[in-house]
Amino acid sequence: MERIHIIGGNRLKGSIKIAGSKNAALPLLAAGLLSDKNLKLTNLPDLEDIKTMLKLLGELGLEVNQQSDFTAVKASKILSHRADYDLVRKMRASFLTLGPLLAREGFGEVSLPGGCAIGTRPIDIHLLAFQSLGASIDVIDGYVKAKSPRDGLRGNKIIFPKVSVGATENAIMAACLAKGQSVLLNAAKEPEISDLCNCLNSMGAKISGIGSSNIEIEGVNSFNNATHRVMPDRIETGTYMIATIITKGEVLLTNTEPDLLRYFITLLKESGLQLEEKKDSIYMKVNNNMKSVNVSTREYPGFPTDMQAQLMVLACLAEGKSFIKESIFENRFMHVPELNRLGAEIKVEGNCAEINGDKNFIGAQVMATDLRASVSLVLAGLVAKGETIINRIYHLDRGYERIEDKLSSCGANIKRKDYE
Ligand code: UD1
Repeated sequence: MERIHIIGGNRLKGSIKIAGSKNAALPLLAAGLLSDKNLKLTNLPDLEDIKTMLKLLGELGLEVNQQSDFTAVKASKILSHRADYDLVRKMRASFLTLGPLLAREGFGEVSLPGGCAIGTRPIDIHLLAFQSLGASIDVIDGYVKAKSPRDGLRGNKIIFPKVSVGATENAIMAACLAKGQSVLLNAAKEPEISDLCNCLNSMGAKISGIGSSNIEIEGVNSFNNATHRVMPDRIETGTYMIATIITKGEVLLTNTEPDLLRYFITLLKESGLQLEEKKDSIYMKVNNNMKSVNVSTREYPGFPTDMQAQLMVLACLAEGKSFIKESIFENRFMHVPELNRLGAEIKVEGNCAEINGDKNFIGAQVMATDLRASVSLVLAGLVAKGETIINRIYHLDRGYERIEDKLSSCGANIKRKDYE
């Protein structure tokens, strides 16, 4: 069992290269199932979630050629139509295999993802989208079994009752091979969805309205070879920005795009923080304290729920009282008791957290509970007095590439230790 040990107090100084986006890469890999042609992806992050996805996709028939500077995938033939519980329970994004299987093969069965630490996370909107394209759905023995009509999926209007990133991605992939036109209304607008659409278009799909909540798709019969560069990870970028702010550091973040974090950057600038943006980098030299924040998580372009736990660490150290409302997931405050163990003063009522600022963290043993909660504990550890030991760090490895290397290269005292 591995743990992360951090001795807090060091100021970050240096340069960090941001990885490709996990949440873009997962659907891009799933899209590989749609085509019997080569899809070459560059800037793919080296993460546990990517390994889990490649394992699952390999079982379904995806051929993977991993080189140092690219990963090429191709599904000459689908070998299995079933995504088993063992892999799906590890990672909810496995459900993104159902759209491609259904569209290409006419049927697929994927285990129900089940609940997770941050809420119940149903899949009803995914199923509604497939049904709109003519699929019939049965849920039997914990598996969703989807079947298209004899002559394949039919393009149609899909009205999402609620904005869902995953359901939008599944619907887009399915509609690409459906007959005729599909119109997606109230689609999610996250940049990772635009990345998927751009990749699909270079594979030969016909998607317009990219980046808007109304997406139009003209179905095609086949795809061509394509190359696509995975967009930068905006959540990893934001996490290292917060690490820089709280340690009053001086850090250059490269291989990223500040435009992906417009809401957050505006919030920081309003709080008096100065940063230099270039098209693909962000430079920060932090001298001043942050002021309190009053933020509600929202769908893109609002403040991302995947940055909520990290923002809370910033709020604990900021001047005055902050309020953070979680509007996307009903149970995403698992980090609060752990941050309180480190000396924070956070009260939660319903989906609102009230954070008393001007606190100093004090190192302790803590437990990682989900991906973003885990990284909030790393952030707190960077500024805590003494040693912070984080248990269950497999959550971190799902979404942060070599986090201890990136932080220690900028002067943090952070180590991974293996325990028998
Ligand atoms: C994706 C991201 C995740 C991020 C989330 C919200 C990936 C791999 N994961 O997750 O990191 O936190 O977007 O930005 O990209 N919902 C339903 N029914 C459904 C689907 C969703 O009620 O069928 C609800 C969810 O419970 C949640 C909300 O809709 O309350 C948004 O979820 P969704 O956008 O689907 O999140 P994911 O795609 O799972």
